[in-house]
Order: sequence, then structure tokens, then C-alpha cells
Amino acid sequence: MSQINFTKTLSAGVGAYNRTVGQWWVDQTRNKAHAVAYKNIASHVVRCAKKNSGLIIDYGCGTGRIMKRLVDALPGWTFLGIDGSQVMLRDAEAWARAKRKKHSAGIKFRCATLPDFSTPAVKADIIVFTFPNMLSPASGRCPFQRLFQEDRDLAWLLARKQEKGKKATELFEQLFMSRVVSRNLRLLLRKGGLCVRVDYCQGDRHELGRFDQLSTLFEEGSLSTKQAHLRPHKFFKLLTSQYYESAVIRDVHAQTKDQDFLEGGYLISLLQAM
Ligand SMILES: C[S@@+](CC[C@H](N)C(=O)[O-])C[C@H]1O[C@@H](n2cnc3c(N)ncnc32)[C@H](O)[C@@H]1O
Repeated sequence: MSQINFTKTLSAGVGAYNRTVGQWWVDQTRNKAHAVAYKNIASHVVRCAKKNSGLIIDYGCGTGRIMKRLVDALPGWTFLGIDGSQVMLRDAEAWARAKRKKHSAGIKFRCATLPDFSTPAVKADIIVFTFPNMLSPASGRCPFQRLFQEDRDLAWLLARKQEKGKKATELFEQLFMSRVVSRNLRLLLRKGGLCVRVDYCQGDRHELGRFDQLSTLFEEGSLSTKQAHLRPHKFFKLLTSQYYESAVIRDVHAQTKDQDFLEGGYLISLLQAM
């Protein structure tokens, strides 16, 4: 599996998760580092679920390893996993079928290319977004640039501050699409609802460089300080964040071959929908 050319395969979009990348990811989710991380993340989500019932959405759920734990821990709750890979969802369906026999509330999955701004039928109390690797081919990004022009301008401003030429364009695309995904997370939540997001990271927020701190706030939607003449719209309030050292960071190393990603872990951030 280490023979996968990730740059080429991932550039095709989410369909990559229906082929070799999907099998690679399924293998990753079964290793010890991921099992420990999923258990820890699920315990964070359970602490957020103060009511006896409600709706939890797992955005980009993959094989639904976190949902599987939550279904057991929160029997009164309803669950919806959304992902663009049929192969990932088929794996998730396999465990869900067995759970449904005991679990009275619903466990559903939806196959959709994300971000998806069609109006949601229901709003979630909690949304979980873990180890994102949201893929969108260039053609799919243009409509969002028309839809979110302020975000586009801010993403350009930040990217050009940090990089030049082709690297600035690449950084712009990353910042802009991450921001659009965060807007989509917000749309799927009720006001006051919680987003538990888990990002690969190489240290606690305060240990990150100045630009990484700023870009993280921009991408997740919690930045409100003016950048040059532009003030970002804040749609999430950052409540807490906690860093955990973990070998899951090697997922990033496997894909980039960058030695910097041999060490690190993940950051769990708790955000409240404004
Ligand atoms: C790295 S996996 C993480 C899966 C899961 N959140 C977890 O922690 O196990 C990324 C997931 O995002 C999905 N994905 C990537 N790009 C997507 C897109 N544009 N639309 C929908 N799903 C996408 C993939 O199919 C894959 O299941």
C-alpha cells in the first residue's frame, strides 16, 4: 500500500477512497494508534452530549469508527454519517446493520460529495469532523468562489502574505476550501450546537507558529480580527482545544513523505455554532 502515488490518486477527488486509498485508509483505521485516538475522541463527544437524545452528524465519516462507539455510549441519540465514498459507507453499513437490531434510534448514512449546501432537512446538536482529507477537484471549487467572495478575498490575502507564486495558489486553495467546509459544518448545526473537530497537528495551538495559529482560526471559522482592510465573519466560537501526541500523524507522512510528519499527533477542538 505504501506504493500508492497519493498526489496523483488524491487529485482525482473523493473517488480515490473507492480505490487503493480507501483500502489503505481502512487498514490505517484498524491500527493501534487509531483505535486509541477514536476511543479518546468518542469520550470527548460523549461529554458534549448533555441531553438524553438529539442528532449527531459525522461529517466525512469514512467507515464510521467513531459513530460505532457513540451508538453504544449514547443509546437515545440519532446518528447520520455523511461521506462521498461508497466503499467506506459499505464498510460502515456492515457494523450498523448489527447495531440497529439493538438500537431503537436511527443510524443512517448518506453518500454525498461534500461540501454540500443543499438545505438540510434537520439540524444537528453535535457534528463530528475527524481527520479530514476533503478532496475536491478544481472544477468543483469554482462555484464556491462565487458563493463565498469574502472568504475567497481573505484566503488570498492570507496566502499572499505567507507565500509567493504557485505556492501561494496552493495555500489559497487549502485555506479557502477548509473555510468552505467549516461553513458547511455550521449550516448543518443548530445555533448553539457543538462541532468536535479533530485535525492532524504538530503541537498545541500556542506552540504553532503565528501564521499557523491565524490560518487555523480562519479555516475553522473562529477568527474575527481584521486582516488588512477585511474583517472575517466569525461563525464558530472556540470553546476548548486539546493536543494529543499520537502516531496517527504518520497518516500525513505516508501521503506526503515529509519527514516533519513522523512526529506529532492530533488536536481536538470544541467549537460552538454562533
Ligand atoms: C481520512 S478519511 C477520515 C474518515 C473518518 N472521519 C475517520 O476519522 O475515520 C477522509 C474521509 O473523507 C471522505 N471524503 C474526502 N473528500 C470528500 C468529499 N469531497 N466529499 C465527501 N467525502 C469526502 C473520504 O471518503 C474519507 O472517508
